[in-house]
Amino acid sequence: MASREYEIVLFGATGYTGKYTAEHITTNLPTDLKWAVAGRSHQKLQSLVEELKPLNPDRLQPGIEVAQLETAELYALARKTQLLISTVGPYYKYGTAVVDACANCGTHYLDVTGESPWVKEIIEKYHDVAKKNHAILIPQTGIESAPADLLTWALVSHIRQTLDRPTRRVTLTVHDMKAAPSGGTLATVLGLFDRYSAKEVADSMKPHAMDAVMNGVGKGQQRGLGARRRKGWVERVFGVRTVPGLGTLTTSLQVSTAEFRLHDFCNPSLKSPIDRLSTREKRRKEEKEGEKGTHTPIHPPYHYSPSPSPSPYNAATNKPPTPRAAQTRQ
Ligand SMILES: NC(=O)c1ccc[n+]([C@@H]2O[C@H](COP(=O)([O-])OP(=O)(O)OC[C@H]3O[C@@H](n4cnc5c(N)ncnc54)[C@H](OP(=O)(O)O)[C@@H]3O)[C@@H](O)[C@H]2O)c1
Repeated sequence: MASREYEIVLFGATGYTGKYTAEHITTNLPTDLKWAVAGRSHQKLQSLVEELKPLNPDRLQPGIEVAQLETAELYALARKTQLLISTVGPYYKYGTAVVDACANCGTHYLDVTGESPWVKEIIEKYHDVAKKNHAILIPQTGIESAPADLLTWALVSHIRQTLDRPTRRVTLTVHDMKAAPSGGTLATVLGLFDRYSAKEVADSMKPHAMDAVMNGVGKGQQRGLGARRRKGWVERVFGVRTVPGLGTLTTSLQVSTAEFRLHDFCNPSLKSPIDRLSTREKRRKEEKEGEKGTHTPIHPPYHYSPSPSPSPYNAATNKPPTPRAAQTRQ
């Protein structure tokens, strides 16, 4: 791969999203990056390169690659680069041939689709071949997925680093969004429901529908992080478990330790297991109401911060209790 002509090829560089991506590469990525803009019109690509030049005249200027949406041309394009970014959409119409080329030529691939049924389709079709050819395919790096993915990654990393535990589930909600769809996005949304049935769309949005590992798309896969942790008999019978960084924790037989949540532990206002249990029940009620669309928060969000007194936080340093002290609150 290192011997390929380009490090990045941006396919669809002449479109709305493509131009933004090209500007980002021009102004932010290393100036010696070997890259090219690609599309179906040489003339349009040439004028794009002229537009980009003043943004960063001292950098290595991009090559120009013309390719039609046709297998031989796409394979030739994919073989020239280590990473191909595609902003040619709608993806359910134009994307599969590009993914096919990348998966078969061992070229890494990124796109900004939000077309979940199409993503599910290409994972099922290309996961194994991409893996065999060492190609990393990452669809959906746009607004529908990137903020949630990055936030989840940050949260899971934090829990792993500070508590050395995996995370079973992260729930994110969006309360406000200031964004307007581009022309290509509108065309995509309108066309998507002509191509896929309502069931296919719904199926692609189920939890883990696009998780190639948990769905066993590839053979002999390990189950992913979301898989249930195997409990030893001591934990199953007595609820005793050891969490690095927190020490030995116990819960009563009635309360499953698997349901014990980090913020229960960190919320100093919950002093006894009974408090925690009732909070858990409140939360279940909230979740049920949320599913019915009648959600009204019963309590404010928990914070990893001191609560008003009485608090087990150290009054002088304003720091949370040490793991050992916290453990006694179990
Ligand atoms: N997730 C997100 O955050 C996000 C945000 C914006 C857009 N999008 C998605 O990105 C895609 C593009 O949207 P856009 O607004 O940038 O669209 P656009 O402005 O219409 O650009 C489409 C690009 O695809 C190229 N193209 C179209 N048909 C082609 C064909 N048959 N062969 C080769 N190239 C072809 C166009 O080339 P020409 O210039 O030669 O016509 C152009 O470069 C859509 O699927 C949209 O949903 C996602």
